[in-house]
Parts: sequence; C-alpha cells; structure tokens
Amino acid sequence: MRAVDLIRRKRDSGELSSQDIQELIAAYTRGDVPDYQMSAWLMAVVQRGMSRQEVAALTDAMLHSGRVLDFSGLSGRKVDKHSTGGVGDKTSLIIAPIAAAGGLKVPMISGRGLGHTGGTLDKLESIPGFNVHLTLTEFQRVLETCGCALIGQTEEIAPADKKLYALRDVTGTVESDALICASIMSKKLAEGIDALVLDVKIGSGAFMKNMEDAARLADLLVETGKRMGKKMVALITDMNQPLGRKAGNAMEVAESIEVLSGGGPADLRELCIELAAWMFFLGERVQSLDEGKKLSADLIASGQAREKFREIVELQGGDVGVIDDPRRLVQARQTLQIRSLMDGYVASIECEHLGLACVVLGGGRELKEDKIDPAVGIEFHKRIGDAVKMGEPVCTLHYNSEARLPEAGILSESAYVITAEKPNTIPTLVHRVIGT
Ligand code: URA
Repeated sequence: MRAVDLIRRKRDSGELSSQDIQELIAAYTRGDVPDYQMSAWLMAVVQRGMSRQEVAALTDAMLHSGRVLDFSGLSGRKVDKHSTGGVGDKTSLIIAPIAAAGGLKVPMISGRGLGHTGGTLDKLESIPGFNVHLTLTEFQRVLETCGCALIGQTEEIAPADKKLYALRDVTGTVESDALICASIMSKKLAEGIDALVLDVKIGSGAFMKNMEDAARLADLLVETGKRMGKKMVALITDMNQPLGRKAGNAMEVAESIEVLSGGGPADLRELCIELAAWMFFLGERVQSLDEGKKLSADLIASGQAREKFREIVELQGGDVGVIDDPRRLVQARQTLQIRSLMDGYVASIECEHLGLACVVLGGGRELKEDKIDPAVGIEFHKRIGDAVKMGEPVCTLHYNSEARLPEAGILSESAYVITAEKPNTIPTLVHRVIGT
C-alpha cells in the first residue's frame, strides 16, 4: 500500500477496497503514514465522499485499531449517548450521571473540541484533577463502582480515532458523514454497549446544516450500529442557536451542575431529559418514553443525579468541591459585552461564529499542539425571537488575553441577526427521530 496512490484514487472519485482502507488506517495508527498524507486523504474523502461499503470498512478498521471491550459480566444494560457536536452542547455531563443514577451502566468514550464545537473531555478537564486518561483497569473499576466512567480514546481503545480526530480538528476535515460516522461508531462500538442514543445536530452551529444532510448522517449511524447488533436511535435536534446560556469549558461545567441541581436553562434541561429518557427506554429500564422522562426528572429533583456526578468526579480524581461551589472552577479575568446596534428582535443566530469566537479566545485548538484555556467562553443573553433594545448586550465574552479579542468580538457581533419584525419561526428542540 502506498498512501499517495490511495490519496490520488480518492481525489479522482475512485472507490477504495476494504483492504486498502484497513492498511491505510493501520499504517497511520502505527505512525508509518505521516499527518500530511493523512490530511490530504481526509480532504479527498470530504470532497468526494465514500460509498456505504467504504464507510463500513473505515469504521471497522478504526474500531479494530484497538481493543473492543466486553462488559457482558457486568450487571445492568450498557447504554451510551453521543452528539455530533454543537455550541454549548454539554448534555453528556448531565445525561451520563442521570442514566447511571437510574441503574444503567455508561462506559462513555468521548472526544475533545472539534472545529468550532466543544468536546466533553476538554470540559471535564476544567474540573481540577479530573483524569480522562484512565487505564483500562481503572476505567473498568470506576464503571463497576458507580455505573459510569468518562474517558477519551486511548492507545488501547480506538487509537485510530484518537489520532484522526486531533488531525481533523485542525485541517478542516470534520464535515463528512463518512468520517463522522466512522469516528463516532469506532469509539462507541469499542465500549461494549448494548444500546446507543445519538444526538445529530442540525443548523447554523452544527456540522450538518440542513435536514437532508442530517438525516443521511443519522441513517448511516443507525444502520452501522444496528449491523453490529446494537439498539439504536438518532434524534435530530436543533443547533440554530447555542444550547443553554454558556459555551466554554469551565463555564459549561458550571451550567451542567446548575441543571443537575434542578435549575439551569429550560432548553438544556428539556433536551437532557429527552435524551436520558431514550437511554432508559433502549436500556429497557422503562416501558415508555414518558416513563423515562419522569424517571430522569425525578432523578434530578431528588438530587440523585447530582450525587452520581459527585461520585464520578471523585473516582476520576477531580475536585468535588466544584459541585457545591462552581466558583472554584477557573474563571476568566475579563469580560466584554457585545451590544445590539438597533432595536428589534433576534431573527437568527449564526451559531458557528459563536463557536469560532470561543476557539479564537483560546477555548479550542487551531493547531494540534495548542493548549486550551479552560476559563474563556461566552455567555448568551438573547435567543431567537427575543426582543432587544439598541445598546443592550446580546452576549458577553469571557477572556484572558486581548490578543485576538477584536476578532472574537466581530465574530460574535456578526452572529446575531436583528430585524425590526419579530420572526414567526422559533426553532423546535427535536426535529425528527430516526431508527425506532
Ligand atoms: N463526534 C465524534 O466523535 N466524531 C466526529 O467526527 C464528530 C463528532
């Protein structure tokens, strides 16, 4: 196998055999194919796409780049949830403890920030001491002890995705249903789960901007999981505006604690309850979705979900003090309010700009080796349909360095489209459900 031949074949819209794909992924994982060749191949895939057979071969090659876990000896259904990524999308931090508090086992392997979207691992690491690099034995011990463990891809589990994910983040090669499917499913199938709930984001802050693309990705993900014997559902949910009121790693942990404590923004809380309900339903813990929603809400109201989060944080070495006092989380030194230039209503939000503003402030990576600043982020004051006065803040940037503040300011200001007329369409939270 010569990497350059596979790059050229994909560039020219050719189809690769399963063996080609298998050899390329294995060679890249070993370090025998350099990042520059892999980047070129990824870009060719983004441009030319992949057949269903190629996607299946890529998922399989990435899955078997590491170990596939077997938790069949562990009592209780193993169920996980994964999002395709958005701005302010912190649902994993809330749903994982809800599901574990309700008796499911949640062996969650997550990713870091990707493109303009945030990632669960970066958020968790803003809790002082929280270790997302557990060994396999530690992962198993935490899962057995409290029903949930949250880690990243490792050298042992989904190592191909570990490398490819970091590369795609900084090479503009995220937006491909084939690459997203193989990335997500190689991690999730390695977890040894019985069922998976997928949150496929659609809209201005998602990788999939329209229903056709989102539904195609959802179908692909569901089909891939079902082929491997997993119970699957995909919810296509709205990302035309940030989820909740905060984006940025430590700020999102604080907002997740608010929801786990019975408060927090209504949209975030509602989506978490919906997704957790699907986990309980697929995990056969409840007979209906309504029962699952009630169970999820009860687990929050009784404080059990919050206590489960405390257990997870403690077992993974984090400072549990942040749960009682989120001000212990790192905070940015400065703030800048972005104000409306006119009276009117928020007609739409270019949500990707807000995600990029977070990256520019240091909350995400532009180069693989960049260190992120967990304290920075954005607080959102206005949502689609809200009235706004001239000079009123639409959002507040939390920052530590002025170096790229103007750029972040322009991106944030340009994200809000204000019109004199009130818009007559307010985005719904869940657009479609696929796979049941
Ligand atoms: N989540 C993943 O794990 N991978 C992607 O490519 C996109 C979202």
